Formats: sequence, structure tokens, C-alpha cells
Amino acid sequence: MSDDTAPEDPAVTALRFQSGACQALGSAFSAEILRLAAEDLAAGGPTAPLFAPWTGRDARAQMADAVPLRLLGALHDLALSGAAPGLAAHYPTPGAAGDAGAAWREALALMAGQQARLAAFMSHEPQTNETRRSAALLPGFLTVAAETGLPLRCFEIAASAGLNSLWDQYHYDFGGAVGRWGDASAAVRLDTDWRGPAPPLSTRARVVERGACDRAPVDVRDPIARRRLQAYIWPDQLERLARVEAAIEAVRAADLAVEAANALTWVERRAAPEAGAATVLFHSVFWVYMPPEDQAALTAAIQRLGERATADAPFAWLRMEAQPGNLALMDLRLTLWPGGEDRLLGHAHPHGAWVEWLG
Ligand SMILES: C[S@@+](CC[C@H](N)C(=O)[O-])C[C@H]1O[C@@H](n2cnc3c(N)ncnc32)[C@H](O)[C@@H]1O
Repeated sequence: MSDDTAPEDPAVTALRFQSGACQALGSAFSAEILRLAAEDLAAGGPTAPLFAPWTGRDARAQMADAVPLRLLGALHDLALSGAAPGLAAHYPTPGAAGDAGAAWREALALMAGQQARLAAFMSHEPQTNETRRSAALLPGFLTVAAETGLPLRCFEIAASAGLNSLWDQYHYDFGGAVGRWGDASAAVRLDTDWRGPAPPLSTRARVVERGACDRAPVDVRDPIARRRLQAYIWPDQLERLARVEAAIEAVRAADLAVEAANALTWVERRAAPEAGAATVLFHSVFWVYMPPEDQAALTAAIQRLGERATADAPFAWLRMEAQPGNLALMDLRLTLWPGGEDRLLGHAHPHGAWVEWLG
């Protein structure tokens, strides 16, 4: 007899919550896989051992650890690897929508044999890098270039694989009424649903120096790391998968290196303002991953760099980060020194699907 009053397993709560979030953010396939995983876990099915490392953690802690997304990524990685063709057959492809129910049945059948592999994938911190965030950051870079009239030195913290560090090498299409920017022959092509006035797209931006760090960089030359990055893209978002492929190739071609470093120590060592260029420190979807004391320390370090800025050596802090308590809505902010006025430039979808420019 089931006990209706027993509290729900926090992992089940987290899976259900993430399922709803995936649905809201446009991935019905992921939502269905996670819904079925929640059902299986609630019934004590074969999914349960994969959640054992998080036993005793409440649902909030499991969400902070992105445990449901780790399961989703582990299954997608298995499908992408070629080691489970029966699973892959039910995943979306350019020609077919996929069948989440059939994929889940196949996943359950594989669960015992692939337990160690899935658990090993889930033991890693999730790694994502969304190239289309560059569509939200671009107008910020252009604002700095337009207002300073200087070439740019660009330093990205929490860069993951560095895909957004090459923002100036991509082509952007903001729709007929707004316009385009960048190299028309670029392989990485970003479009977004633009809202509000047009950004300063007539501005040219010349990047004369760039640097990037992450505490756990993704080396796109490593095939396992590369597939991990792909696996964290929701399987039915095929245009995101195609985009990450193209951007990975761009990073390889540019030989961009993302240094393994904590942003806290890296910024002062690497991103101090220099005469003759505007130094831009930028980041996206990273702030919430730092504890409050690190957020305060990094803010103070950035403030110190800003205070060293002069008219000939300006310093900009550009970021696309979640509004407090709302991971589904990003604020695009710019602080430019000398002066140091903090400006809200706009808002954006977490993956850059739309950008609202405040002008
Ligand atoms: C959600 S990912 C976002 C990656 C990338 N900025 C993007 O927008 O696609 C967050 C990244 O922050 C990195 N990170 C978290 N704390 C960090 C720190 N203190 N220093 C450097 N990187 C950090 C993680 O390793 C991870 O790659």
C-alpha cells in the first residue's frame, strides 16, 4: 500500500521542476524524458542508483547542482557516442522529431549495463557554452567601441570553451528592420528575435587582444570534452547543436586557449586597463555559480581595475547575468570607466533567443 503522506523524494521534485523548465524554454523532448525519469525514480526503478550521490540533499541543492540536467546530458552523450544506436535512433535528427517515450524505454533497458558510464558522466560538473549569448553581448561591445572610439582588448571570465570569446568573428542577423553585423561569410551565424530600438550596428569593432579563463575550461580539441559540450544541448534544439559545432570549429581554427583559472585571481593579473585600447571584461551566465563572498570579492577587484582607467585607457565591465531569483531572464549591463556609471542596456532570453534592447 502506498503512503500518500510520505514526502516526495527531493530528486523527484527536482526532476519534475526541471521538466517544467525545459518545457517552458522550448525543449519538449527533454521535458518528457525528465518527466518519465521522475516517474521511474518515484517508483524506485532503475534510475534510482544514479541519484545515490545526492541522497540527503534537498531539491534546491539538487537543482543548484543541476542533477536533472546531468541525467539528461548523460543520456544524450550516450546517444551521441555511437555506443547505443538503439537509443540514438529515437533522438531528434534534422529529418525526424524523435520519440522521447521510446528513447526513455530504451534508456531504461540500457540503464543496468551502462550504469558506470552514466554515473561517471553525472559526477562531472555540467559544462555548457551557449554561442547565441554573443547576440546579446554584441551591442554592448559596440556601445564601448562607439563611446570610446578605441580598439578593444577583450577578456572573458567563466568562458567555458571560449565560444563567446570569438564574438567579433561571427555574423549576426537581427531581422530586416534592425540589420546585420559582421563577416557575411562567417560559418557561425547568429540570429535572434530583436525587440526595441536598433543597436549601434554601424559601429566597427576591432579586437586587438583577447584572453579567456574558466575554473574548468572545456578543451574542444579533446573529443570527449567536445561531446560533453554537445550533450548538454537539449536534443531537440538542433539549431543550437549546429551552432555549437560551427563555433567549436572556429575556436579550433583560432587556436584560442581558455586558461584554467579562478576569475577572482585572473582578472587583476590579466585584464588591467592599458593605454590605446578599451579593455572589456565580460561574462555571461556565471554570477549565480559563485558564493556571495566571491561575488563581493570579484566586484571589488573589478572596481579597483575601473579606478585605474583613464580616457586613453578606459575599462568596461559587460555582463549578461540572471536577474536575482529569476534564471529565465537575463539583464545586460555595462559599467564604463572613467565615470563608472552602471547601465542596464537590455534584457535577454537565457540562450539569446530574444534580446530586448533599451537603447
Ligand atoms: C553556465 S556556464 C556559462 C559558460 C559561458 N559563459 C556561456 O555563457 O556559455 C558557467 C561557467 O562558469 C564557470 N565558473 C564558475 N565559477 C567560476 C570561477 N570562480 N572562476 C572561473 N570560472 C568559473 C564554470 O566552470 C562554467 O564553465
